[in-house]
Amino acid sequence: MKKYKKNKTSSVQGGEIFGEFTSSFDTDIRMYKEDISVSIAYSKMLQKINLISSTESKSIIDGLTEILNEIQSGDFSWNSSLEDIHLNIEKALYEKIGDTAGKLHFGRSRNDQVATDVKLYFKNRLYEVRQELLLFLEEIVSLAEKNISIIMPGYTHLQKGQPVLLSQYLMSFFTMLSRDLDRLDECINNLDIMPLGSGAFAGVTIPIDREFLAKELGFGKISTNSIDSVSSRDHILDVHYVCSSAILNLSRICEEFIIWSTDEFDFINLPEQFTTGSSIMPQKRNPDYLELIRGKTGGVLGNFMGLMTTLKALPFTYNRDLQEDRSGAMSSLDTIFDSLKVLRTMFSEVSFNKEIMFESSINSDILATDFADYLAYKKVPFREAYGIIKRVSQKLTKEKKSINELSFDEFRDISDLFEEDVMQIDLKYSVEKRNSLGGTSTNSVQNQIKNAKLFIKAKSNA
Ligand code: ARG
Repeated sequence: MKKYKKNKTSSVQGGEIFGEFTSSFDTDIRMYKEDISVSIAYSKMLQKINLISSTESKSIIDGLTEILNEIQSGDFSWNSSLEDIHLNIEKALYEKIGDTAGKLHFGRSRNDQVATDVKLYFKNRLYEVRQELLLFLEEIVSLAEKNISIIMPGYTHLQKGQPVLLSQYLMSFFTMLSRDLDRLDECINNLDIMPLGSGAFAGVTIPIDREFLAKELGFGKISTNSIDSVSSRDHILDVHYVCSSAILNLSRICEEFIIWSTDEFDFINLPEQFTTGSSIMPQKRNPDYLELIRGKTGGVLGNFMGLMTTLKALPFTYNRDLQEDRSGAMSSLDTIFDSLKVLRTMFSEVSFNKEIMFESSINSDILATDFADYLAYKKVPFREAYGIIKRVSQKLTKEKKSINELSFDEFRDISDLFEEDVMQIDLKYSVEKRNSLGGTSTNSVQNQIKNAKLFIKAKSNA
């Protein structure tokens, strides 16, 4: 596509207001394909209901196809002083086929045209993001599968709590993001309602065949109220919600990896290409890519707030404010798309420090719950067992010793309910014992992995 030179400063200069201020051209240029397919479908429909002849329809469609090819090869000259791409394409069509071009707008308004273009654009773009999300989900599952034997400390309040499999952690990322995929699919569903045929806002006088149009354009449903069709933009709020939820979730994954990559944790080795050095501190490798995804969250949430504010108390029906409906969501989807790509590549190259993760778990009182559970199995009320282990743990902390270093005799000193089998409680025991549905045992995580693969397969074929 031809590079359109942007005014580097602003569209309003020296007190004089230029047409560019009112133009949606910069944004709409991304929807040229959708705009042309809407016009081609509309031309076919006008012919079908005998409002234009087959020769006229052919000439319109040939003209539009030529324009499409010119845009794609970069030969089309855009006139940015025209309000939008619809007018650019309409003018070019006039230049190619003359007055017949004017017949295309019978019964159509830019209000229902732009609403249709935008829905088609977001549907198409969401499919691209969906594909990227599926690939990332696949990568998470394969990382979980590859590292199934790694044990690490699990945290609450960023304090070590109980040991878990690293894969249980990774599968929590999968589970969280699988809901974003569901949200995305729901969003595509909400975009799948065609506004075309609503005219300016009151419907049209021509015997329009909306079923035909919907079929041509691949819409599953047809809008049922012309005023709502050209006035509402909540389907774009849905796009923002999908993006906001996704970026929030991604930012949490990034934060986790940032913490794990610090010297203090040293659980993870980020691929070199995703870190950068410091200009003054030679020893540093900074996790910039992860930080940037975390940082971009602000922009994505801001875009959501932006459109909500634009829509608040907006009078019916179409108002020019609505031209501001798409740029934020386009940019947020770009951010999600790029972030998913970055993370997928990073996940395919990341490695974990198995020993350090294990050591970090063992050098702590992380098994305290398991010892309390042990006493509870021996019929001590859990609250009482909890109290006993807590006191032991506090005493040991003072002595700079951890609970799993205790000998059998020392356990017996605490309570004579402890028997030889207490000595089998270790990290592996603790993890495998949590074999509840959704728990961290190897069996449970393998089950999650199996179901995740089925989920990905079903979604890929949907
Ligand atoms: N550029 C406008 C938009 O993007 C197209 C619709 C204009 N309609 C109008 N009545 N001025 O929303």
